[in-house]
Amino acid sequence: MELYKSISFLLFSVFIVAVLFSSAFSEDKQSGESKFDDLIHNMRPMEKWLAGFSLPVNISEPWPPLDEASLKVGRTIYQARCAVCHGVKGDGKGPRAGDMKIKPRDFTEAKYKFRSTPAGALPTDADLFKTISRGLHGTAMVPWLGLNNSQKWLVIYYIKTFSDYFEDGEKAEVITPPEPVKSSDEYVKLGAKVYDKAKCHECHGKEGYGDGMKADKLKDDWLRPIKPMNFRKRILKRGLEINEIYLTIATGLNGTPMASYASFLTEDEILAASYFIRSLAPDMETRVTVHRQRPAPDALAGLRIDHMQGIRFRGPLMFPLR
Ligand code: HEC
Ligand code: HEC
Repeated sequence: MELYKSISFLLFSVFIVAVLFSSAFSEDKQSGESKFDDLIHNMRPMEKWLAGFSLPVNISEPWPPLDEASLKVGRTIYQARCAVCHGVKGDGKGPRAGDMKIKPRDFTEAKYKFRSTPAGALPTDADLFKTISRGLHGTAMVPWLGLNNSQKWLVIYYIKTFSDYFEDGEKAEVITPPEPVKSSDEYVKLGAKVYDKAKCHECHGKEGYGDGMKADKLKDDWLRPIKPMNFRKRILKRGLEINEIYLTIATGLNGTPMASYASFLTEDEILAASYFIRSLAPDMETRVTVHRQRPAPDALAGLRIDHMQGIRFRGPLMFPLR
């Protein structure tokens, strides 16, 4: 049985490499450089991400100029890679949108969940860059490893043109998570109290399983049912770093019942709640094994998405689209 498993895994790996190889050539035509090594190199981060780890973001490159030519290239990238979900018009109604429980963002409303800016505000360009680079765990929004930094900026310039708010909007203040001053154990203990005091359990449940008394009745601004995060079973969309959890609690997720607690809790309390929530997270080691053995149910959508990035995963590398 063990032997059979290893052989089929081996065959499967050969298959993956073959598929990678064929897609490497199609990528070649687009960019002119050899991408085969890059693809192999890219596969590791993608696997890492699928298993729930966060990817680093490198924002250091100079930004390309914002002009007509840039927008034109941004548009081409968008149509090729993003429109299938977010729609040609940016309205979130792309042909694949129907396959997903968590729907692609409608960019015409400029309501962005993952920001470093206060509730209701627009995201910064850096926020968008981060989302595109790191993806959103447990959703069809994968990290866009196939785009270089410059291409990411160009597609950001382009998606901002779907809404006038970005032109009219004032620059919002940026919230920076504070440095911890206590030990993480102390924060976890304090965080449990904050979780109680702030009534996080009403949605996320006493134990953090996402089963609070309000959990079944929640809707987002688009009137779709929405579930509070299950901290015990899921990797948070934004990743498990303290700073990321901090930003969620401090800024809220626009368009969802997840409000900002910036005016209700102190910075230290928000930090404590962040440590507490991370302490509930599932063990990554076990997730990696589970992930390899059990393909996700919504396999079809996963397949298409990876194909779009020029990398095609099959079988166990399928990822969940809830
Ligand atoms: C396979 C479908 C799919 C593709 C392709 C896709 N996205 Fe997404 N995207 C999503 C989904 C689903 C969400 C919403 C996740 C959520 O609400 O939790 C999302 C959300 C976003 C957000 C909003 C984040 C926020 O703060 O609210 C941005 C920005 C974004 N995508 C950019 C892009 C860009 C740029 C591309 C192309 C390079 C792209 N997406 C391609 C599915 C996709
Ligand atoms: C009224 C219901 C409600 C309450 C109360 C609530 N949340 Fe949430 N929370 C949500 C929903 C719904 C989501 C999922 C949003 C999404 O995925 O788009 C969420 C998501 C989250 C996330 C996950 C973000 C990610 O990256 O996926 C964190 C962390 C979080 N909440 C923390 C808290 C904390 C801490 C409190 C209390 C201070 C709290 N929530 C109170 C509804 C609530």
